[in-house]
Amino acid sequence: MLVSATEMIKKAHEGHYAIGAFNINNLEWTKAILAAAEEAKSPVMLGVSEGAAKYMCGFKTVANMVKEIHDAMGITVPVALHLDHGSYEGAKAAIEAGFTSVMFDGSHYPFEENLAKSKEMIELAHSKGISIECEVGGIGGEEDGVVSNGELADPEECGTIAALGVDFLAAGIGNIHGKYPADWKGLSFERLEEIQKTTNGKPLVLHGGSGIPADQVAKAISLGVSKINVNTELQLEFAAATRKYIEAGKDNEGKGYDPRKLLKPGCDAITAKVKAMMEEFGSAGKAE
Ligand code: 13P
Repeated sequence: MLVSATEMIKKAHEGHYAIGAFNINNLEWTKAILAAAEEAKSPVMLGVSEGAAKYMCGFKTVANMVKEIHDAMGITVPVALHLDHGSYEGAKAAIEAGFTSVMFDGSHYPFEENLAKSKEMIELAHSKGISIECEVGGIGGEEDGVVSNGELADPEECGTIAALGVDFLAAGIGNIHGKYPADWKGLSFERLEEIQKTTNGKPLVLHGGSGIPADQVAKAISLGVSKINVNTELQLEFAAATRKYIEAGKDNEGKGYDPRKLLKPGCDAITAKVKAMMEEFGSAGKAE
């Protein structure tokens, strides 16, 4: 059975480690990440963007597919199916479809509107027994080829949204989605400490978890980060392993590539990477 992320994040926060939220894009990635969690004996969150859900034929297909794969693989560690960067409509639809955790990202709205909509979504999610993440301030990233330095969330705004009863809060501390530029200034621990204070020690979420140096990850966890989102790093691993397989020319003697064999090296690379990250985040062994 898939579970809400409330309990696993609470334990991670108390135990000073973080739960990885790894993005899934298809059946193969789902299997690869679940295999890693089971082997590492780690709780895990499977993140699904609205784009990925659309690609997989909608929230309901995703929820059913993940539940069936979870059961068929005999997964015993806690698994939450989480909507990543959900819109107002998307979060409602994902809840309806059986997701066990959602992010409502209202960071692009004026703050008062983000506040009102977050309040409504928190009440809705909790009435269904599922966990919810909200966001204050945008997370930087690449737009039109221009990479911005990550935004810093306003600590007072973070405190106001935290007080609504959100389970975990995404707040910009200089983090960026995608690859970090060579001149990236790093995470702002000063801002993280301020946010920790204004939110009364709410579990915090670090987006853009690919490519952050291990010492900064460890420090962020020690200052209250309990969930770390990873996508780009898995894409890079998958692409490199798949490219290597194709370059080796194993196309089944001119009959074309067996799709299962073609995707295997990439999926194995994802499993290895996710396990390594679970060790790094400290969640490995926590589901024993
Ligand atoms: P990366 O792609 O930078 O790992 O970020 C993932 C993320 O934060 C998803 O919300």
